[in-house]
Amino acid sequence: MNEYLKYDEWNIIEDRFEQSTHEISESIFSIGNGYLGQRANFEENYSGPSLQGSYVAGVYFPDKTRVGWWKNGYPEYFAKVLNSTNWTGINILIDDEILDLATCEVSNFSRILNMKEGYLKRSFKAKLSSGKEIEINALRFISMVRDSIGAIKYSVKALNFSGKLKIIPYLDGDVMNTDSNYEEKFWDEISQKSEINSGYVLMKTKKLDFYISSFMQLSLYKNGIEVDFKSIPSEKEKYIDNTIEIDINENDEVCLYKYVSTTSSRYYKMDELISFTEKESLLAKKVGFFKLLEEQKLAWDEKWKESDIIIEGDVSAQQAIRFNIFQLNQTYNGKDAELNIGPKGFTGEKYGGSTYWDTEAYCLPFYLSTSHQEVSKNLLLYRYKQLSKAIENAEKLGFNNGAALYPMVTMNGEECHNEWEITFEEIHRNGAIAYAIYNYVNYTDDKAYLADYGLEVLIAISRFWAQRVNFSFEKNKYVMLGVTGPNEYENNVNNNWYTNRMASWTMEYTLEVLAYVEKTNNAKYSNLLSNVNFETSEKEKWTSIIDNMYYPYDENSKIFLQQDNYLDKEQILVKDLDPVHLPINQNWSWDRILRSCFIKQADVLQGLYTLEDCYDKDVIERNFDFYEPRTVHESSLSPCIHAVLAASLGKENKAYEMYLRTARLDLDSYNNDTEDGCHITSMAGTWIAVVQGFGGFRVKNNKVILNPFIPSHWTGFSFKILFRDSLLKISVTTKKVIIINEKDSPVELCVYGKDYTFTKEKELIVERA
Ligand code: BGC
Repeated sequence: MNEYLKYDEWNIIEDRFEQSTHEISESIFSIGNGYLGQRANFEENYSGPSLQGSYVAGVYFPDKTRVGWWKNGYPEYFAKVLNSTNWTGINILIDDEILDLATCEVSNFSRILNMKEGYLKRSFKAKLSSGKEIEINALRFISMVRDSIGAIKYSVKALNFSGKLKIIPYLDGDVMNTDSNYEEKFWDEISQKSEINSGYVLMKTKKLDFYISSFMQLSLYKNGIEVDFKSIPSEKEKYIDNTIEIDINENDEVCLYKYVSTTSSRYYKMDELISFTEKESLLAKKVGFFKLLEEQKLAWDEKWKESDIIIEGDVSAQQAIRFNIFQLNQTYNGKDAELNIGPKGFTGEKYGGSTYWDTEAYCLPFYLSTSHQEVSKNLLLYRYKQLSKAIENAEKLGFNNGAALYPMVTMNGEECHNEWEITFEEIHRNGAIAYAIYNYVNYTDDKAYLADYGLEVLIAISRFWAQRVNFSFEKNKYVMLGVTGPNEYENNVNNNWYTNRMASWTMEYTLEVLAYVEKTNNAKYSNLLSNVNFETSEKEKWTSIIDNMYYPYDENSKIFLQQDNYLDKEQILVKDLDPVHLPINQNWSWDRILRSCFIKQADVLQGLYTLEDCYDKDVIERNFDFYEPRTVHESSLSPCIHAVLAASLGKENKAYEMYLRTARLDLDSYNNDTEDGCHITSMAGTWIAVVQGFGGFRVKNNKVILNPFIPSHWTGFSFKILFRDSLLKISVTTKKVIIINEKDSPVELCVYGKDYTFTKEKELIVERA
């Protein structure tokens, strides 16, 4: 735990400079707009420890996988999100002495991430070894309105001297990833030019030929008056800069505005990139910093109108939930169906920026309720577009007839993960992808999606499950052998309850959707079935598997068993484990972890969360009471699921305890790993914990269900829900639930079990249960 940030409802505030926490701050204070992301690296030179990170969405490098023992079916490469051209750099020299926060005396340091308006601000005083003192004020943002634009206002004030100030804004394409094998560099320079007051670099990845152009424009003010200046352009390999020399006297303030447009060949042809970024950067300069900032505020205002959560009586919880919502909205904007959400978003290199099941299982609910339908639809289309690759992936593993296994980790549909027990065995991800289709259609009522895209994916996944099970004559049931469930602390298990259950659920749902599409869109139905060579016998096979699937169960305690023989393990509860052992993934050998009964993250409980409508409360409670005490929550994705289940079981304190473990995970660097980047996908889990957990929010049969309670540490809370054409604000006070529909469309609600139909005119007030 590292609690060095100040509590504030709308801002993340650091009020002193510590080299030891700087890399954590670089992650936390990251900014982005879904296309570009930037860690909070200092603009000026910094020789202390720092993880440089400027990311461009969808641009990656297929690095060689490094494994000792090659296994057939392993992927050829591991995708890496690329640290790209550093566009933020501005070096400062005072009479030729360089400003470097690692070596000078720093005071009055403040770094603020303004989440309401979407910018990062920093100020400090620095005393250089010459004794000269300066004050720096820097503000930057990545525009939510102009996809390619980042803008910086950087001012230097002379506090106690007169002398020569050099400001050197630059673009540096000569950057590295810290996770590159053998310190290899991933970028080649294609062209670059430094001109008076502007310049660009055009870089190309060494593999896959992604091109990125960054074009900068500058303007300069002295004591509030624009300076007609001429920078001195200079270039070296993969790098351009512009030196601005200016005489300053005591109390003079010089302010540089740097406008940079960065985009990639994912959106423009290689030969258009320079002219596009030049045009956009010039336009940004013409519009001017303050107008751009105004646009930014308005864009964030709109976002907050649809997604804010207000927590009363607990400023740390308030700050945390807003931070999570802010980071999620900076990471994915849903405009491009070829982009997705890496577990660290644009805040670090870990997990390669690739897509995991986290997207469907955790992030989708957030975007469904806080963004327009197209955003979640694009998350689904991402997988739809990768279906042929998922089929190829399954073929490599020996499956046939159009069976699809989606990758565990991917950028473009190809598997990028190479630990056999995960790559080949953590196949439950297929279930999450199928369930996401149900979730989306249930939420939006966009049933056309099923005929257009969903059914094809469902058929391919069901085909996979039907081939992945085998009939056990000993059990007289279908079994699924050699899998890894969501609990990665045990591998190669037989009959993981969650995986068997999701497999069977997928087949059930696919049959339901087949029947629906046949009835409602026979032409598309016939067309699709003939395209995928669908045989009626497949339906029979699936029905037989559904009816005869084996689910491990313990008659004594009446719980689902996580997998065969789970109870053979020595049964110890986490509370009885000496805390010196925790986290076990840092203290125990892998062998000891695998043999232990300790569970990394929700597994059976993940299934009961997902399919809660299929089970009554007693069943869920028995399983919760058994599994939660054995769960170490060493995945950040774990506590939120437990929070929702605990809340629905009326275990309010447990729900809150679980919520606390997710909410400030990064702000307090709970897992001591925030310097690698923020846990973006688990931030969606925090939202789930508040809205589905404390708010008791569900969508069933076209109706919004609410069963809210207030954690005892809060005095009230409210959240926003975009549900189809309505925008609901749900406020929970100690006595009442107040629901306002901010849009015209009527909505069906069920609050504490009682039905209401609700239009814009009314404010619905329900007494708290
Ligand atoms: C979790 C996985 C998750 C991955 C990326 C792992 O630690 O066990 O469930 O998909 O992290 O967030």
